[in-house]
Amino acid sequence: MLRELQIAPDNAALCSVAAEEFHLAAESAIRNTGRFAVALAGGTTPRGVYTQLAERYKNLPWNKIHIFFGDERPVPPDHPESNYRMANDSLLSRVAIAAENVHRFRTELAPEAAAQDYENQLREFFHPAPGDLPRFDLVLLGLGDDGHTASLFPGTAALNESARLAVANWVEKLHTFRLTLTFPVLNHAANVIFLVSGAGKSAVLKEVLSASNQASFPSQRILPENGRLLWLIDQDAARLLAGEKLIF
Ligand code: 6PG
Repeated sequence: MLRELQIAPDNAALCSVAAEEFHLAAESAIRNTGRFAVALAGGTTPRGVYTQLAERYKNLPWNKIHIFFGDERPVPPDHPESNYRMANDSLLSRVAIAAENVHRFRTELAPEAAAQDYENQLREFFHPAPGDLPRFDLVLLGLGDDGHTASLFPGTAALNESARLAVANWVEKLHTFRLTLTFPVLNHAANVIFLVSGAGKSAVLKEVLSASNQASFPSQRILPENGRLLWLIDQDAARLLAGEKLIF
């Protein structure tokens, strides 16, 4: 595993770098395999990345790009909290990507059924060999202030899932299910990029990236066994890292 840290001056620069990383990963995957399979992050940080992709990368071969989601909330696709809606508003509705290239969690179904349905979608698209796993060309992830990523929250059952590709994960602190890809899939990706922006993330980022930290956060278990891991952060999020011995 190749592990990198890149600090951008501010959020706008972070979004530009992330958009260019998406572009380069897409070009490489399409050149090598004829298609690009990417799992998008939810939350708020990635919106600026998706907006830049819509505004500056309209000429990407979107017909060869397949969009998946690292996680989803159990709400309708047009709900304000839907990760699909955020991506659709900021990117998917603004580029020439066919509906069949967008593979969302079907949250019209009950959580467990939606998770099973998503696993079926993954298997149908990637056709992994028996015992093998889908390999995303790129996975974008965020970092929660409790150290979660995707919807792999501390103390939840999904952290122990070693066989399924996607699960409905009960998150007690949110008092709701969350749909999420599991560590096996995320750690099988070719390229994983964490997007971490803002001073509000500086404390958890210091803990997550500190070499001396004994605590274990779900985000620290993202270690693509045969891939590249890039922590893409901005100055505000990095403000407590000075002088800290990091895992890099
Ligand atoms: C979600 C995300 C979640 C997010 C982090 C960071 O559905 O909310 O998948 O893992 O990436 O909570 O969220 P922000 O980018 O909003 O800080």
